[in-house]
Amino acid sequence: MDIRKFSLPEIIFGHGSIRYAGSYALQLGGKRVFLVSDQGLERSGWVDRLLTVLEEAGLETVYFDQVYSNPRDTHIEAGAALYRESQADVILALGGGSPMDTAKGIAALAGCGGRIHDYEGANRISRPLPPLILLPSTAGSGSDVSQFAIITDTARRVKMSIISRSLTPNVSIIDPDLLDTVDDHLLITSAVDALAHAVESYLSPLAHALTETQALTAIRLITRHLPRALRSRDPDDMEQLSLASTAAGISFSNASLGACHAIAHSLGGVFDTPHGEVHPVLLPHVMRFNLPACTARMADIGEVILGGRLATDEETAAAGIAWLEDFFENLGAASRLSHIVPHADDFAQICHMAAQDACLLTNPRPATAADLLAICTEAW
Ligand SMILES: [Fe+2]
Repeated sequence: MDIRKFSLPEIIFGHGSIRYAGSYALQLGGKRVFLVSDQGLERSGWVDRLLTVLEEAGLETVYFDQVYSNPRDTHIEAGAALYRESQADVILALGGGSPMDTAKGIAALAGCGGRIHDYEGANRISRPLPPLILLPSTAGSGSDVSQFAIITDTARRVKMSIISRSLTPNVSIIDPDLLDTVDDHLLITSAVDALAHAVESYLSPLAHALTETQALTAIRLITRHLPRALRSRDPDDMEQLSLASTAAGISFSNASLGACHAIAHSLGGVFDTPHGEVHPVLLPHVMRFNLPACTARMADIGEVILGGRLATDEETAAAGIAWLEDFFENLGAASRLSHIVPHADDFAQICHMAAQDACLLTNPRPATAADLLAICTEAW
């Protein structure tokens, strides 16, 4: 086995763990916290809850709420300017992937200067960043445990993958209670994002025994607990979804992703398509494209999903993909690209950009822009 390096934050996991946010900010030397969140979290009461926790720890807070779905370079620049002005010393984000990636982008500019575009790609951040504490409010993006941040370049209309172990937060505080205020649509789109993280990272050429166990665990937990969580909102099912998101995040952060995410990033850059709506449409098509290059590994996924293997790897893999299609349909997810993007006119350009996305480097089967276009056309 090759020598490998893994990046992980300190993880605090469990119901009620939000109460430790203040003590961790203090441990990291914080006096003035730069809090990134959004209006949805304000309405649900979680921002007030966190502000109280920080106040009780004796911390000052500067609040930044210019956070939008698919965070843009302009939001990052505005946040970094406020961070410098406010002389804050710890960055804390509360929310889904968008607030957390916004916080990471702000940390990158605060630590390194320049523009966020300077850090696109892998390992371009070389200087230390301010301490970063992330509290996920959804079970999906895995941003709270990952070295990834996805930021839209508004001029090029492309989502940049910024990958650096400097972006792994110091601390991830995962409190499943935060899922109580998530609606069904967000619960589903977040969980299927985590499922795509698990599948793509398991099939990645960079997968390792340490990431594979996390990926297969995430697949098992999401396929078992998402339907139950939607029916009952049982705290135990919610907790299992939080665990799954964390496991999938640990896996993709260290093994990377594949073609489904490369295309999803480009679609998001052009159409602002919500990230989690793309995977139920594209993942089965991408898996069938990849199948000849990784049949045995795709059968491992099928085995976890089906609870056993069929006569051959080909049959197990194919049955696993078909099961996932039914799973997505039963969740009420869109099944065609034509349901989630307005037209197919830009697909050639979108696939050209996707072919340059860092996630495509670890797709198990080499894919050209033409291959990606064929996948999108088939899914239209
Ligand atoms: Fe994702």
